[in-house]
Amino acid sequence: MSKPLSAPVWPTLFAASATASMGIQAQLIHTLRKALLAGRLPQDSRLPASRMLAKDLAISRSSVEAAYAQLEAEGYLERRAGSGSFVAFTPQLRPSKKTASASAQLSQRGQGIVDAGGCRDTTLPSLAFNAGQPDTRAFPHALWQKLMQQRWSKSGAALASYGPAQGLPELQLAIAGYLAQARGVDCQPEQILILNSSQQALQMIAQLLIDPEDTVWLEDPGYLGARNAMLAAGAQIVPVPVDQEGFNTGISQTLAAPRLIYTTPSHQYPLGIAMSLPRRMTLIAQAAAHQAWIIEDDYDSEFYYDQRPLPALQGLDQQGRVIYVGTFSKVLFPSLRLAYIVLPPALVPAFITARIAFDGHSAQFLQAVTADFITQGHFATHLRQMRLLYRSRRDLLLEKLQPIADVIKPVNTAAGLQFALQLSKGLEKPWTASGTTAGLALRPLSAFYQKEAKTEGWLMGYASLSNEQIIRASETLIKSYQEK
Ligand SMILES: Cc1ncc(COP(=O)(O)O)c(C=O)c1O
Repeated sequence: MSKPLSAPVWPTLFAASATASMGIQAQLIHTLRKALLAGRLPQDSRLPASRMLAKDLAISRSSVEAAYAQLEAEGYLERRAGSGSFVAFTPQLRPSKKTASASAQLSQRGQGIVDAGGCRDTTLPSLAFNAGQPDTRAFPHALWQKLMQQRWSKSGAALASYGPAQGLPELQLAIAGYLAQARGVDCQPEQILILNSSQQALQMIAQLLIDPEDTVWLEDPGYLGARNAMLAAGAQIVPVPVDQEGFNTGISQTLAAPRLIYTTPSHQYPLGIAMSLPRRMTLIAQAAAHQAWIIEDDYDSEFYYDQRPLPALQGLDQQGRVIYVGTFSKVLFPSLRLAYIVLPPALVPAFITARIAFDGHSAQFLQAVTADFITQGHFATHLRQMRLLYRSRRDLLLEKLQPIADVIKPVNTAAGLQFALQLSKGLEKPWTASGTTAGLALRPLSAFYQKEAKTEGWLMGYASLSNEQIIRASETLIKSYQEK
């Protein structure tokens, strides 16, 4: 483990990049993100303890804690077992003096992308309570290996060459069949474009459909990956609050006309609400009236435990305004790097050309194995097994949190790889600090709001944790409540 970064550099760093018009916390986030993106903080190096940094910079410790929490939610930092906050992200090439001066000449577009930042998921999936993590140990590895071997011996030479930009036809077909049956998505296989990730889908959509200053409606609280992609394209983000029926179409109808609308209707990210049917119909009507596109990010709807989710917005839309985004990151495994978008027919040619322009296509071999996994029935079996496994873990976590039921409120626990845990007012900051010190990964809900947070709490991942981990981590959480 590397040594902590020396404290005296921080005031200089801070002074050099802070902008007077920002609040203290925003300035600190900006400074740290900039330093991280410039590769000035090596991977795995330890940041100063929040108390120490607060003292060095003469700012409050809670500002430092909140800045660290935000950067952790964005994937730049990892906060570890009683030992502090560590750099989890560094650009691959540490810039030399020469490249550092070259990087100061980014295009405006490039600078926009860098300023918006990324949204990296954690590389420590089994640390409680990291969110958005499937259990990769429970994946049928032996079966996958057999399918890979079979595929390579059957068609290795063909799969080793360049492939179609829109994706392997047999995977398009397998996805179209699955989506029609499981999600009520109404599409031809040719409308499906295979990509590497939902994040790539969001970036492509933003780059192809947004001009600088265009308005984008984003759920608030919402997914940082979507926000960053829209910001990178120069969009004006207009936050739309969510309530117990999801995306608040009553409020959105009073807002500036959007070009794009981003929503997670099956399982609102991060609060977990399922958008009601009337709201879905209203949102589609609003999009049609504004001639706007809706991005439906259906990132984990396969994991429902109590009742099936409503069919996708895409299937309800008669106007061809919905772009449906799905990913294999959660239902198979994240490093597979396979996802897809279902495009309205009018957008298909432009997106295929853009895919050719950007990077060609996704790995053919893994597309073929994934198609086999689906068409041979293994996908349906795997989903059934994971639903049972994750449901039992959810139930165990809810049971183990019972002793602190008077200060916490788990909400919308019926689906997903995580649930939102609301906390009584004033608890989020101190309890996040004591829980983090005790070694837990606690992602504050406040980090997902564009401005002022309306809910205090955490996004609690449980799907990737064993029963033992859930029991131990719950005890630690309860203990850290007493120590906050
Ligand atoms: C709302 C949402 N969309 C998309 C993704 C990421 O999917 P991918 O790995 O395909 O980019 C996540 C990951 O946590 C997510 O939470």
